[in-house]
Amino acid sequence: MAVDVLLGLQWGDEGKGKIVDYLAGKYDVVARFQGGPNAGHTLEFDGIKHVLHQIPSGIFHPHIVNIIGNGVVLDPVIFQEEAQKMMKFDIDVTKNLYISKKTQIIVPTHRLLDKASEQAKGNDKIGSTLKGIGPTYQDKIGRSGLRVGDIIADNFEERYEALKQKHLGQLAFYGFEEDFSEMEKAFFASVEFLKKFKLVDSEVLINKYIAEGKSILAEGAQGSLLDIDYGTYPFVTSSNTTVAGACTGLGVAPKNIGRVIGIVKAYCTRVGSGPFPTELFDEDGETLGKVGNEFGATTGRKRRCGWIDLPALKYVIALNGVTELHMMKADVLNGFETIKACTAYKLKDGSVTEDMPYELQDVTDAVYEDIKGWNKDLSDVKDFDAFPAEVKDYVAYLEEKLAVPVKVISIGPDRTETIMR
Ligand code: GDP
Ligand code: IMO
Ligand code: MG
Repeated sequence: MAVDVLLGLQWGDEGKGKIVDYLAGKYDVVARFQGGPNAGHTLEFDGIKHVLHQIPSGIFHPHIVNIIGNGVVLDPVIFQEEAQKMMKFDIDVTKNLYISKKTQIIVPTHRLLDKASEQAKGNDKIGSTLKGIGPTYQDKIGRSGLRVGDIIADNFEERYEALKQKHLGQLAFYGFEEDFSEMEKAFFASVEFLKKFKLVDSEVLINKYIAEGKSILAEGAQGSLLDIDYGTYPFVTSSNTTVAGACTGLGVAPKNIGRVIGIVKAYCTRVGSGPFPTELFDEDGETLGKVGNEFGATTGRKRRCGWIDLPALKYVIALNGVTELHMMKADVLNGFETIKACTAYKLKDGSVTEDMPYELQDVTDAVYEDIKGWNKDLSDVKDFDAFPAEVKDYVAYLEEKLAVPVKVISIGPDRTETIMR
């Protein structure tokens, strides 16, 4: 069977975790293919809220195999904390979680390098989550990284030491010093913990599952506008968050990709630095943040809020070949008489475009269309027909502008607050 890919289409935090958990029951396998502990995916059911950073969001369904793919960068310390939390909920993660031996490992000095690099950038800082993501991907591409499969090698400590020495040289360049002896102790303890897990050649396993007709959902982290190639560079993350990342990050051939599910907020948020043409600095922005509880699931930082950005969405829908959209957090717009959608950008040189410019920083103004809001509570809605006409109109408007069907409308954080069409 084909591998379905679920991706965030904005700057992350669209609600991917909620939908993976919602859809997971229909799949045999859920796999993460890129990113690492910079991600924070929130799931809510039975009155409990869970935040997952590295463990795939299918973990609460005992029949599902969860895979951390080779494209991921894994912090064993954060992994241990997460896995132990799961164990408290009686989930035997050592049984239904597999980790690729080719997954790159985040070591303590990667985290220090992230900090040092951000400090050196000053006002131009990326606004990284400081989890060591950039430095770990740099070592992967620079061919000096450590992989999960290496932890059982006799010379693992030696190889770790060599990488650490290289990092100490880089930290000296930045003039950065910090005692990390405690971090190092925790790191080695967590490496021992990691040995309890099924460390596998996940690309082989996944292709075996495909051949057996098993259904697989690939769970993206971050969002397409944070993609290393197509995002708002340099204010991006260090991996391919777009659909091709699922191919390289899991070993899935393009011909085996099926549905491409684009997760999109009914408005837009961003955390960290970088351009955001529809960002609001007024009361409406405050309302979106307050009603949407827009605080980062990983760092707790306040998320910047604004209206939906159609030119940016059109751009990433094409890049990803999105086959369906899931519109999240419709309920956050409940109190608005008018909703705005950005349909074009005005650029520095005075021109107006519906295309993504080379530098999104060059956008001076967003051009908006007004849409009538529903201005009603949606909590009693149980099926699509029961939505107020204005919600249906907004959905139809997005479908017309983006030329992709909207299959799911989410009206609250809980698993049950999901309306499938
Ligand atoms: P992810 O990184 O894409 O998985 O998203 P996050 O978990 O970082 O952020 C999404 C936030 O919105 C979480 O707090 C979710 O519980 C919450 N959420 C998801 N869907 C909805 C929704 O339809 N309405 C509301 N109000 N909150 C939602
Ligand atoms: P999920 O999977 C939102 C942002 C950071 C920063 C930039 C680079 O929960 O949607 P990094 O730590 O990767 O070096 O940070 O990317 N960022 C995210 N923003 N959601 C995420 O993940 C993010 N992961 C990274 O805020 O601007
Ligand atoms: Mg998140």
